[in-house]
Amino acid sequence: MLKTVKTTPYTDQKMGTAGLRKKSKIATQENYIENFVQSVFDAIGGVKGQTFILGGDGRYFNKVAIQKIMKMSAANGMKKMIVGQNGFISTPTSSRVLLDNKADGGFVLTASHNPGGINGDFGIKYAVASGGQCPTAVSDKIYENTKKISEYKILEADDVDLSKIGTQKLGDMEIEIIDPVQIYADMMSSMFDFAAIRKLFAGGFTFVFDAMNAVTGPYARKIFVEMLGASPDSVVNDVPLEDFGGLHPDPNLIYAKKLVERMYSDDAPDMGSANDGDGDRNMILGKKFFVTPSDSLAIITDNYKYIPAYKNGIYGVAKSAATSTAVGRVAKALGIGYYEVPTGWKYFCNLMDSNRITFCGEESFGTGSSHIREKDGIWAILFWLNIIAATGKSVEQITREHWQKYGRSYYMRNDYDGIDTEVANKLMSDLEARMPSLAGKQFGSFTVKEAKPFIYNDPVDGSSTKNGLIVYFTDNSRIVYRLSGTGTNGATLRIYLERYETKLLDEDVEKMLEELADVSRAIAEVTERTGKAKADLLT
Ligand code: G1P
Ligand code: ZN
Repeated sequence: MLKTVKTTPYTDQKMGTAGLRKKSKIATQENYIENFVQSVFDAIGGVKGQTFILGGDGRYFNKVAIQKIMKMSAANGMKKMIVGQNGFISTPTSSRVLLDNKADGGFVLTASHNPGGINGDFGIKYAVASGGQCPTAVSDKIYENTKKISEYKILEADDVDLSKIGTQKLGDMEIEIIDPVQIYADMMSSMFDFAAIRKLFAGGFTFVFDAMNAVTGPYARKIFVEMLGASPDSVVNDVPLEDFGGLHPDPNLIYAKKLVERMYSDDAPDMGSANDGDGDRNMILGKKFFVTPSDSLAIITDNYKYIPAYKNGIYGVAKSAATSTAVGRVAKALGIGYYEVPTGWKYFCNLMDSNRITFCGEESFGTGSSHIREKDGIWAILFWLNIIAATGKSVEQITREHWQKYGRSYYMRNDYDGIDTEVANKLMSDLEARMPSLAGKQFGSFTVKEAKPFIYNDPVDGSSTKNGLIVYFTDNSRIVYRLSGTGTNGATLRIYLERYETKLLDEDVEKMLEELADVSRAIAEVTERTGKAKADLLT
C-alpha cells in the first residue's frame, strides 16, 4: 500500500566532498534517510519511469536503509532498481553497472573510509546518469529540499529478500538482483593482462591484500585467488562486517597498521595492498617500501603501455590541486594534457566524458581511469601487478627508477582534527586575506613566490570552484591548505606539503619536510589559533 508520511526537516543534510556523511546515531534518527532520499527524488523532478542502482558497503544500517530506499523508490514510481546481492556493492562496481545499464542514478550506502558501526559513520553517495557523483548544482538543490521537506512517499510492504540473483517485483517496480563481484571481475579481466599476472603468481611472487573487513573481500578473493592464482592466505580481513571489526577502513600507513607492520617485517611479501570501506581507495606497498598515491598516479601514467586496455594510447591526466605535481612531469614528458582540479572525484568526470583525460588521482589514496566515473581500488592494484608482471621489476625498483627519471616530490599531508568550525573557517579566511602580502616573504629557508586561492574553471561546463589556498615557493615547494568536506566531528584542517628534489632521492620523508611543516604552521598561525603544536595525523 502506498503511504504518504508527514515529516519535519533536518537542517544538517548538506552533502560534503562525497555525498551525505553522518554519525550513525544521527543517520538512524526517525525519517532521516527518508527525508534525504525524497529530497533527492524531488530535486531531479521525480523518478517516475527511471532506473536506479542500489547497494552499500555492508556497514551498520546498510540493511535497514536499503529496504527503506527500495520501498520509497517503488512508491515514487521508479521503473526498475538494480540491487547488489545481499545489499552489497562497491563504489566502482556501482559506477560500472550504472553506465552499462544507462541508468538514471544510483545510491551507494557508505561513509567510504570512515569507521562503521553504531558509534561510527553512515552515509549515502548519490551518482547521476554519467556514473559519477552528483554535481554541486544538484547537491545544492537537494540541500534546499531537505530544509523544507514536509512529506515522503513509501510503499508498505514486506522486506525484499536480496539473497538470490534474478528479478522480482516490489509493487509495480522491478527489482533486479545482480552479482556485483562477477560483473567487476569481468571488467578487470577485460582490461589487464591476466595471463601475465597468473604467471607472476605461479612463479612465486608473494602478495597480500587487506580488505579491512569491508566490501572488497569477496572481490579480492575472486580476482586475486580464484582467477589469478595468488595463495588463499594472501587475501586478509575479507569478510565484510557491519563495524569493519573495529578497523578504520582507510588504507594508509596509520590505519592499515597490521598490513604495514607485515610489509616492513623481514618476511614481507613482494607486494602489499589494501582498499577502503567501499573499494574506491587503494594503498600500494613493496617490501619495506611505501608508494605515495601521488607517485602511484605518476607511475601508472608513465607505464600505461603495459596494460592491454590502454596500449593504444591515452588522453591526458588530472590530479586534485592538493596532490603532488609528480604526474605533471610525466604528462609533460608524454606530451599529453594535464589538469589540476579541486578535491573530490566529481571534478574529474567532465574531463573524462569529454575525452580530455584517461587517468586521474588524488593524494588521498584514490586512483582511477575513465573505465568508470569513480576511483577504483582493485583496478590500481591490478595495474601495479600488471606492470610488475610485464617488467619483472619490484615495487621499489619501479618507483626508484621513476624518481631517477623525473625527480622526486617528497610529499605529506598533515591533518589537524576536531578544530572548532568557527576557528577553522576564520583561520582560512584570514589566511586568504593575507595571501597577497606573502609574496617575497622569507620563512626559514623558504621564500614565497606566490600565494593565492585555488580556483578551477571547468573547461566543459564553465563552472568555477574555489577550493583551498596554495603557497608556492621559489624552490618549487608548495603548501596547500584546505578544510575537509567529509569529516563528521568539527573541522579538519588539511595541510599538504610538497618539496621537489632531483638529486636527494633517498631521504627520510618526514625529515625532508620538517621545516616546511613548521613553515606551514607559521604562515597560517595554526598553533596560535588551534592550540595544536603538531598535526594529529600524518599521511
Ligand atoms: C577526502 C579526500 C578527498 C576525497 C574524499 C572522498 O575529502 O581528501 O581527496 O575525494 O575524501 O573520498 P576531504 O575530507 O578532504 O574533503
Ligand atoms: Zn571510499
